[in-house]
Amino acid sequence: MRIVCLPGDGIGPEVMAQAVRALAVLVPDAEIEEQPLGGRAIATHGDPLPPVTLEACRGADAVLMGAVGSDRYTWQDGLNPEDGLFRLRRELDVYANLRPATADGIDLLIVRELVGGLYFGTRGVDPDGTVFDRMEYHPDQVERLARRAFALARQRRGRLTSVDKANVLATSRMWRGVVDGLAPEYPDVAVDHLLVDTAAMRLVENAAAFDVIVTENTFGDILSDIAAALTGGLGVAASACLGDGGVDLFEPVHGTAPDIAGSDRANPTAMLLSAALMLRYGLGLPHEASALEAAVAGTRAASPTGDEGGAAGTRAFGDHLLTVLTGLVQT
Ligand code: NAD
Ligand code: IPM
Ligand code: MN
Repeated sequence: MRIVCLPGDGIGPEVMAQAVRALAVLVPDAEIEEQPLGGRAIATHGDPLPPVTLEACRGADAVLMGAVGSDRYTWQDGLNPEDGLFRLRRELDVYANLRPATADGIDLLIVRELVGGLYFGTRGVDPDGTVFDRMEYHPDQVERLARRAFALARQRRGRLTSVDKANVLATSRMWRGVVDGLAPEYPDVAVDHLLVDTAAMRLVENAAAFDVIVTENTFGDILSDIAAALTGGLGVAASACLGDGGVDLFEPVHGTAPDIAGSDRANPTAMLLSAALMLRYGLGLPHEASALEAAVAGTRAASPTGDEGGAAGTRAFGDHLLTVLTGLVQT
């Protein structure tokens, strides 16, 4: 079993280190290979997604990523750390980004389209100086994502909310048509549609009312930060980026947190729960995934980091986790 880990920038390596320690206990026979991505890869390879990293990912059973982004590299230099992330998602064609958010009373799943929409449409500057980013979707891109969301809703509480901006955008009107066209194939799933502004409000007002939300790339990016804020914050929000049978990518929702990077203050929970998603969905190891989730829950209760009201540092959290995990694995 081969896991490629991409620590990335900022707090990425700090939280990744704790995940690697946990994986060494849970899957001792797995080969864990580290590769550069993002700002760090620009510094060492002059490319945010060097060929060596992409090839390693393609040959892996699953890929675990920290976060990328650094003030040292910007679009001004023509090299952008985030570009490495976009290219990797696109190359692996991990179109369905599952972002679960759970807390007392709330149990929702955002299914964010990840390789199309506003993020991947044509960008440019017209001769008159007008700058543009096009939001583009082919109906097939929407259909494969929607089918995934219907299937997930069916396994959960049978409710699917499609979020769009159909009162303004042509892509959204097509999106609605595709979702409605599929609905008769999933009679056990109750479908409704919400405009994205209303969806943002409803999430803040009553997130417990949602089951599965399926939405465009940018909308899903924004709504998933709201959902995270309602269920413990960015320090605990994990995600799975899934394709159709290829190599899947697992990553926390948070970024490189430059405000706390290098100070041992990052909560590794989001990264560890992403590793648990990897064990369950990327590697087919549900027991190991459950063990890791239980150990994370125990550690969050006993030894929380600052963002969850505690005093533990990133490494101390990892130390505690390892003790709990070793106990769980031995019994
Ligand atoms: P951010 O998610 O990095 O940080 C937002 C806030 O949440 C900060 O106050 C930060 O300290 C806090 N936070 C984030 N993760 C935390 C953790 N694990 N524990 C405790 N607190 C945590 O968002 P930002 O500051 O807007 O972005 C910083 C950089 O990260 C940018 O370059 C952005 O592009 C990049 N980014 C990358 C990813 C990714 O690689 N998947 C995701 C989001 C942002
Ligand atoms: C995320 C991040 C990325 C995104 C950034 C870093 C480009 O915010 O994964 O949520 O918008 O996809
Ligand atoms: Mn985001």
